[in-house]
Amino acid sequence: MEQELSKLKQEAEETLSQVTDADQLEAFRVRFLGRKGGLLTGILRQLGQVAAEDRPRLGQLANDIKLDLETRFDERKTQLTETLANASAGGTDYSLPGRCLPFGKLHPITQVMEEICSIFEGLGFAVAEGPDVETDHYNFEALNIPKHHPARDMHDTFYVTDSILLRTHTSPMQARIMERQDPPLRYVVPGKVYRCDSDITHTPMFHQVEGLLVDRRVSFADLKGVLTSFTHKIFERELTLRFRPSYFPFTEPSAEVDVACVICGGSGCRVCKQTGWLEILGSGLIDPEVLKMVGYDPEAYSGFAFGLGVERIAMLKYGIDDIRLYYENDLRFLSQF
Ligand code: PHE
Repeated sequence: MEQELSKLKQEAEETLSQVTDADQLEAFRVRFLGRKGGLLTGILRQLGQVAAEDRPRLGQLANDIKLDLETRFDERKTQLTETLANASAGGTDYSLPGRCLPFGKLHPITQVMEEICSIFEGLGFAVAEGPDVETDHYNFEALNIPKHHPARDMHDTFYVTDSILLRTHTSPMQARIMERQDPPLRYVVPGKVYRCDSDITHTPMFHQVEGLLVDRRVSFADLKGVLTSFTHKIFERELTLRFRPSYFPFTEPSAEVDVACVICGGSGCRVCKQTGWLEILGSGLIDPEVLKMVGYDPEAYSGFAFGLGVERIAMLKYGIDDIRLYYENDLRFLSQF
């Protein structure tokens, strides 16, 4: 009987290891552990015919085997249910790589603004930033735009109080920088500016990069050279530039700079308002009055300043014909850059 038992144990273990589904598992239970006609039950029944002194030992052995097989049966059952559940859930392949989170990107305007600054850094300019909420003093007075000066009309100012406003340009940083530092100096100032204006080429908030250079014997030729070399770098080609005489109270002489419209190639379209040119910046030699106000001697020093429109440059660079696209937050548009 001892031999019979160990043969049965071996056979049962082998059978169980080959079980792959619920039917086979049930067949295993009936065959080995079943109460009626199960092989183990059959052997236990014969215990009565065994010699009395062998009975307890063999009884114990048979019981141990029974318990062992029942435990293994339960284990196999749990394993099988898990595998089957996974399979019916479409199967899980744990070796597959995880799903990546989508990467965010810098806004195209931020990218262009950083590119503009890095080109000027290459020309020896340092980067400075100033407040969006400015005083009337820095936004206007210090730039030679007194109260009731007609130039204030061009600015469509958002006022916070009578003397505090949202800066209408980055030029207030000219006075702030010059006040705290003596020449020679070279700065660019990137930032947001605000004007109460909105159409296909204007948004109420937009970006400028201010440029400022003060030293001895700075001339208009220096301004022209710096701006030309900048424009060729940012557009990655030698676009035609037009320096058009203009007026700003804080520069003299003043010029606005246009580039040939890259949307229509100069033949005229709605973006360039049929002129073939797009204005990208205002500039000029710093007015001696402004230098005097910050305590510089205009006989000893001269300088130039310019204010670049970042949205305009980005539109030209990427051939975008409506400035408002930048601010509609449509990811299909934004994720292209
Ligand atoms: N601040 C002027 C503007 O926003 C541009 C400018 C800057 C002009 C510096 C001259 C010098 O229109």
